Amino acid sequence: MEAAAADPNARQMAGFKDFFQYASPTRVIAGRDLLGSTGFEFQKEGAHRLFVVTDQVIRGTGLVERVEAGVIDGGLEVAGIFDDVPPDSSTEVVDRCAEAAKEAGADSFLAVGGGSVMDTAKVADAVFTHGGTAREQEGFFLMPRQDDGMGRPLDIAPLACIPTTAGTGSEVSMAAVIKEPEEKVKLEIADFPLFPCLAILDPESTRTLPPQVAAATGMDAMTHAVEGYVSVDWNPHQDARSLQALRMIRDNLERVVETPEDEDARGNMLVAASIAITIALGSVHAMSHPAGAQFGVPHGMANAIHLPHVIRFNAQGGADIEHRYRDIADIFDLDGADALADHVAGMVQRMGLPTRLSQVGVPEEGIPALVEGAMGDGTTLLNPREPSEEDYADLYKRAL
Ligand SMILES: [Fe+2]
Repeated sequence: MEAAAADPNARQMAGFKDFFQYASPTRVIAGRDLLGSTGFEFQKEGAHRLFVVTDQVIRGTGLVERVEAGVIDGGLEVAGIFDDVPPDSSTEVVDRCAEAAKEAGADSFLAVGGGSVMDTAKVADAVFTHGGTAREQEGFFLMPRQDDGMGRPLDIAPLACIPTTAGTGSEVSMAAVIKEPEEKVKLEIADFPLFPCLAILDPESTRTLPPQVAAATGMDAMTHAVEGYVSVDWNPHQDARSLQALRMIRDNLERVVETPEDEDARGNMLVAASIAITIALGSVHAMSHPAGAQFGVPHGMANAIHLPHVIRFNAQGGADIEHRYRDIADIFDLDGADALADHVAGMVQRMGLPTRLSQVGVPEEGIPALVEGAMGDGTTLLNPREPSEEDYADLYKRAL
């Protein structure tokens, strides 16, 4: 690290940073047979009449009924259930969800579902608590604060999450992504109050997860770990999490896709996803957000397609960036960034996921609008190598 000490600019990727902040306040409980304790645990966070947010697929598996029984068993009430969250939730759904929670007289939210469900519950909770609309919540650290906006952020109603996919990590993050269908963009919303107060990680919650969804959401978790580790917003706290998440993903992701009945692998993937998550992301997410907003490519699938290309691109951006990828490659017993990119592409293929955008409905003519979306995405600013429009066009073409 002598070079880092000599060159102040190298602090971007190594050394002691000029500034970072880190918080991870969500209480996580992980283990077997926890769903029956949902009420007991959520009561400790101040919930009484909770509003369940879920989707119809999850509801159809019977999981919500079991959670509901656990809520009642703990002496809490279910004020209502909103099961109308689509796979890619929108501002309109969030506003309806907040309204339904108000009408039901709820005092807290319980999300039972994947990223779309949890993000809907987060933003609906903010609208429920502070008023306004989902559209107005966009932005980083813009939620209401005491002392004319200079003080402590105002709490939102208690929110607990039971993730039913092992991927987004939304259950322990302060961020939410919600589609604005008219503008065809994904709104990014992040602030401290959006950290759920409780996350329950029980492998029973992912028992009926189809292998292809397990693969795609698992690749989302892997992307969070990789992007978080190489982002210009890296920090040592997150580094420790990213690298451990990658070890757990190495040992459990393909295993869970091959043998979904493996409860240990399912539990470990839930934990891996919750430690991989960070808001310090990069160009993989910048490329995947518009692919989702404009062509409906599922988030994890889009990341799985883009990740190998972005690894190769970023690793050309300087020795310090290449070094960060080398750390990750070491975990997979590989030599350097190119080998890592090949390995990721191989994992994606072995798990039966699409490897090209053209396989998931993206036409070549769509690239200019995707490039525009990626350039305007907030995560582009956090990528270790600054991409130009030409770079993004080239990356999308490679991924096509
Ligand atoms: Fe993601």
